[in-house]
Amino acid sequence: MAKEQKKKSARKERKENKEFIKVKDVSKSYSLGEVEVKALDNVSLSINKGEIVSIVGPSGSGKTTLLNIIGALDYVDSGEIRIDGKKLSDQSDKELSYLRRETIGYVFQNFNLLEEINAEKNIEMPMILSRKPKEVRKKQVEELLAAVNLSDRKDHKPEQLSGGEQQRVAIARALANNPQIILADEPTGNLDSSTGEKILQLLLDLSKKHKKTLVYVTHDTEQAMLASRQLIMNDGTIIKDFLSS
Ligand SMILES: Nc1ncnc2c1ncn2[C@@H]1O[C@H](COP(=O)(O)OP(=O)(O)O)[C@@H](O)[C@H]1O
Ligand SMILES: [Mg+2]
Repeated sequence: MAKEQKKKSARKERKENKEFIKVKDVSKSYSLGEVEVKALDNVSLSINKGEIVSIVGPSGSGKTTLLNIIGALDYVDSGEIRIDGKKLSDQSDKELSYLRRETIGYVFQNFNLLEEINAEKNIEMPMILSRKPKEVRKKQVEELLAAVNLSDRKDHKPEQLSGGEQQRVAIARALANNPQIILADEPTGNLDSSTGEKILQLLLDLSKKHKKTLVYVTHDTEQAMLASRQLIMNDGTIIKDFLSS
């Protein structure tokens, strides 16, 4: 490639990597009877591709709402969200479900595994929904089971697994379709602190290894410090946004 062309494509890549997730002037309220709660109050935020971001803040400060609107699980009242340049409000339902399935992997506090099926099937499920061929699914499930160190538990159903093991299955499931973004809402909230630490480390290691953009919520300031960038929320706004030293 000619020098000029190379420079140009590097510039383009830099531009694409910036503002991979863009939240602009977003507000979102919930009304419960007479009471209106402003869960997000004019929030703006840009996250670059490959960034590892933690969110802390008191209960009710809007952390889950922020993750849910980035993950297209919920709508905003005003403002806009862009993922990889695409404005979510311009997307059809079909395009949004594609985004949720292929671009975003979600990890929940309470694991949210399907109780009736074993670990292997839980991990395979997103790929079945994406109509991936059987051989591709099988290979990917094997690799993911190994990555989360659960190859010997693949036939276990969720109730036959410990909390930490269930969350490892959920992490593998979130990675199944090779999404570019991982959103994790208090992924260690239901685990004892030593298991929680290991699970978060696994999530960080896999996200870095596969160059994912990771946004996770935690109550634990030590866990928050493991991100390259930390957000602190209060009352529906981001009150601090800084790079870890
Ligand atoms: N579905 C809902 N209906 C009514 N109020 C809600 C709903 N979801 C969240 N809220 C309110 O919005 C605020 C922010 O909630 P949330 O984003 O879950 O906070 P966090 O995750 O930081 O604890 C809270 O006051 C909460 O009670
Ligand atoms: Mg929450």
